[in-house]
Amino acid sequence: MRANVREKRSPGTKHGWKGLAFGALLLLGAGCVNSSDRIELLDQDWTHLAGARMVDDGVRIEGLGRAIVPTDDDEDQTPIANPPINLRGPVLKVKGDFALSARVSRPAASKGGAYLTIYGELPLTQDEWRQEGRAVTLGLEGDSLIVELQNGIADPERYAYSLPNSAMSQGVNVSLARIGDRFSIQIDDETVALINDPGLFDSGFLWFGASARENDEYLLQSLTAHPLDKRSEVTVVDNQMPVLSAEEEESAPTGPATASLRRLAEKNHPQLYIGTAVATIPLLSDQKYARILAREFNMVTPENAMKFQFIHPRPDRYAFADADAIVDFAEANDMAIHGHTLAWKEALPRWVTEPDHSDARIRDILAEHIATVVGRYKGRIQSWDVVNEPFEPFGAELRTASPWYQVMGKDYIAFALEEAHRADPEAKLYINDYALEDPGPKSDAMYELAKSLLAQGVPLHGIGFQMHEDMTDDYWPVEASVFRDNVQRFIDLGLEVRISEMDVNLQDDDSEERLQQQAEYFRSILELALDKPAFTAFSMWGFTDRYSSLQEWWDADGFGNGLIFDAEHQPKPAYFSLQEALQE
Ligand code: XIL
Repeated sequence: MRANVREKRSPGTKHGWKGLAFGALLLLGAGCVNSSDRIELLDQDWTHLAGARMVDDGVRIEGLGRAIVPTDDDEDQTPIANPPINLRGPVLKVKGDFALSARVSRPAASKGGAYLTIYGELPLTQDEWRQEGRAVTLGLEGDSLIVELQNGIADPERYAYSLPNSAMSQGVNVSLARIGDRFSIQIDDETVALINDPGLFDSGFLWFGASARENDEYLLQSLTAHPLDKRSEVTVVDNQMPVLSAEEEESAPTGPATASLRRLAEKNHPQLYIGTAVATIPLLSDQKYARILAREFNMVTPENAMKFQFIHPRPDRYAFADADAIVDFAEANDMAIHGHTLAWKEALPRWVTEPDHSDARIRDILAEHIATVVGRYKGRIQSWDVVNEPFEPFGAELRTASPWYQVMGKDYIAFALEEAHRADPEAKLYINDYALEDPGPKSDAMYELAKSLLAQGVPLHGIGFQMHEDMTDDYWPVEASVFRDNVQRFIDLGLEVRISEMDVNLQDDDSEERLQQQAEYFRSILELALDKPAFTAFSMWGFTDRYSSLQEWWDADGFGNGLIFDAEHQPKPAYFSLQEALQE
């Protein structure tokens, strides 16, 4: 239901908000090593980097070609590269002047690219555009070393230097040193360039990403870091899963109620999960985000990490690391997981949509995808949005744009549900869509669809009502009482129902009055869900405006305003109204 956006960022927008979050980062589960010597970073954990394999002589990096493919039909659909980042591995803390050196070798036949990206500020993936952070990429392309500086605002600055002939056969050492306000680039100990540093590592924390061109691979033989003088420091931290301490659990914002949302729900309304969508990068890099998440919610939905183009970038390759991180985090913090999503017309990688697949191949792709993804998390993910947004935005027609519909017609829905059921017979299977809460043609069509699937014995267990709402002078969301009457017929079919992606977009007016109205509206929907035992979850599409999908691509400095914590992670009136509703 979001505007699907082609461009990453409008030229000239100011940058800087992410610095705060990552500046406030606390390195979790830290085992600190202070050293004035070289630190070998490959001794750390590289098992959670998608496409990477730890081998005897280093880390083998395989190109997954992972990209974000925008989905609007009438605009440029150039995929935006979305290479994996080692979020659950070494993070360097740096002060002063330091050097990083990589030894890299490529198979003799390789002409493609071998890349190592060092992030001072991580990117975010949002509304089909990737919001770049600050980073330096070192790449081997053919017989050149490529250096790319990304400052998060402008197009990257790109430089190229010749590699010695031996680089192809024997490998090569490439180093990047930060000396004052310049980067020095070395190839096999020879300085080839000095480049001005626009402060790319000012955060003091460095994260690593490695990738190769699709279908290519390379060997990272070593990756070391060391300070360049006595005043400088380089420390490595192993960034692993945050788990909430008992003390932190007690520290819910004090409002009318004293306990967190999840604790109140667990005590007073154990039938209803309190959930939120979760994004992997903030989960692993913004400690405050991770803390609020574990404290307030007992269910998570991966916002993007399980979507096809993120988790299955190549026909024969999956990239599970980001999804695994969310699943592991949820389990470590005793939260349930709602999977999202398997058969959708969006977020499909090029390899699915582009070539002329036979009908049989399309069926196989969907079946294999569902079997693999659902199978991997069997017994760990309790419910799935098997089919997402099957209907046109505001009509009764099924969307026809997906390869699934093109080949199978409306039968793709039953097909996907059957496959998911086969892969995990215990999982509860949902169809999820927006604009269903209002009575009308779309809601009627969903009702008829559900009824006919059930009559055919298809394993359908529930309907997700997304509830992406707008609250403005021109548009007011549907009254809870109207929704109440409308939802009853779905419940009467014997289905579970859930609020799956709620946000209340105030757009330009987030005055005190509107924030109160927003709070009242959230409360009215939660109360409705509490009232009917068929509701299994009240779940929002994120919890903090800082990382909300309501942030507009043309306003990269701005934030959304549709969630219950503000951009500084402070509770809004809506938070307290939910607390109150759960208390009663
Ligand atoms: C959105 C995410 O929030 C964005 O980050 C992403 O770029 C695009 O998708 N309905 C859905 C979700 O079912 O998957 C969508 O999520 C929001 C609308």
